[in-house]
This record gives sequence, structure tokens and C-alpha cells, in this order.
Amino acid sequence: MDVYKAVASRRAVRGFTDQPVSREVIERVLAAAAWSPSGSNVQPWNIYVVTGSPLAELKKLATERVAAGDAWDDEEFVMYPPNLKSPYDERRAAFGRDRYSALGITRDDWEARQRAAIANWDCFGAPAALFCYLDRDLGPAQWADAGMYLQTVMLLLRAEGLHSCPQMAWAKVHETVDQVLSPPDDLVLYCGMSIGYEDETVPYIRTGRAPLDETVTFVDG
Ligand SMILES: Cc1cc2nc3c(=O)[nH]c(=O)nc-3n(C[C@H](O)[C@H](O)[C@H](O)COP(=O)(O)O)c2cc1C
Repeated sequence: MDVYKAVASRRAVRGFTDQPVSREVIERVLAAAAWSPSGSNVQPWNIYVVTGSPLAELKKLATERVAAGDAWDDEEFVMYPPNLKSPYDERRAAFGRDRYSALGITRDDWEARQRAAIANWDCFGAPAALFCYLDRDLGPAQWADAGMYLQTVMLLLRAEGLHSCPQMAWAKVHETVDQVLSPPDDLVLYCGMSIGYEDETVPYIRTGRAPLDETVTFVDG
């Protein structure tokens, strides 16, 4: 698949069929993604791929917790600064509006929003997921490396006919994820990623992007 096509067709898919994803395909994708760049080639990502009964168990534990209104686990990193400033705040609000209006959910229907959000911890029905952990001792530059790696994974998944949804939502219940995956203590969960074949019946609004001149400055002669 052409790289432009992979970039344009990747989006956060929030509805998957139960068609299994073969381990062979995931291994091929992750072996290729290992060639992602990282500062000084430290390759800070630690990836757990979860399918089958361990994933079913994790989905069950997490959705039950969230549905019961359990408090989130202590934050191990700041997902968004409090009082997100302009223009980021407006972009986030526009995303929320589009996400829920595509599902026919109004702004003040808190319960319906909650139900839609809980689908996060069911991996939106996906039969496979990966979890990206980073060493506690590493800093922002290594977290950025992990972002490049995860985008590489998502583009390669497109080349395999697969879709994905990166999910920091999993960090909110990191203790439950740790309970199932048993990572070493020195690792912090950054995010999960649902992986599977798209359920094309699930409605969505394609997210927009800021115009180029809002985010790019050309300095030339
Ligand atoms: C690090 C990261 C974490 C994200 N966490 C979530 C999440 O927890 N749940 C979710 O539904 N989408 C999540 N997303 C998806 C974003 O909402 C999505 O990428 C953004 O709105 C742009 O839309 P697009 O990916 O469809 O182009 C996350 C994306 C990134 C990069």
C-alpha cells in the first residue's frame, strides 16, 4: 500500500468485527515496526500483544470496573494539562462533538456518552490489542519515540487490511492491565491499541485537521 494511502486511511476505528487477527500478521507488522527511529536507537517501547482468553479476561475486568463507577487508578503521567489552552481546547471540544454526534448522542446525554466511552475497555469489539509500556526512568523524548513507533505500527496494520484505535483510556485502569499482563515494576503503561477488522456498520465522522498554516511555518528565502 502506498504510504499516502496508508496515512489517509488510518483513523481511530471504534467498531471492529470479531474476525480473528492472525499472530503471523501481527508478528510481521511488529517486526517491520521495529525499524522505527528513536533517539540514539534506544527503542524504548515494551509491547504486549494480547488476544484470546487473556484479552477476554482483561475486557471483562475493566468494563465491569468502569461500569461500576470505580475510581480511576492513580495517574502515572499527565494525559492532558489541566485547563488545556487554546487552540488545543477547541480542537478537543470539536473532536468530542463529532465523536458523539456521529452516534446520535446529544451533548447533555451523559449516560449515552458513558456507554459509548465504556466501549473503550471492550476494545470496541476488537479481537486483538497491544499495550505499550515505557520504563519509568525515561523522559519525554523517549515517549515521543514510542509515538513514532505506534504510528508505524498503525500504518503497517493498514497495509495488512487491518484497522486500529490507540487508547490512553487503558492508562486510567493501568492496575487492571498490570494484573493481567504482569509487567516488571519499572514499566509504566502509556496506552493500549485495539486491532482488528473494521465493522463498517458503525457510524463515524472523520476527524478534521487544522489548516496547514496553523501548524506549519515555512522559513524560506
Ligand atoms: C496517544 C493517543 C491516545 C488516544 N486515546 C484514545 C482513547 O483512549 N480512546 C479513543 O476512543 N481514542 C483515542 N485516541 C484517538 C484520537 O481521539 C484520534 O486519534 C484523534 O481524534 C484523531 O482522529 P483519527 O485518529 O480518527 O484521525 C487516541 C489517540 C492517541 C494518539
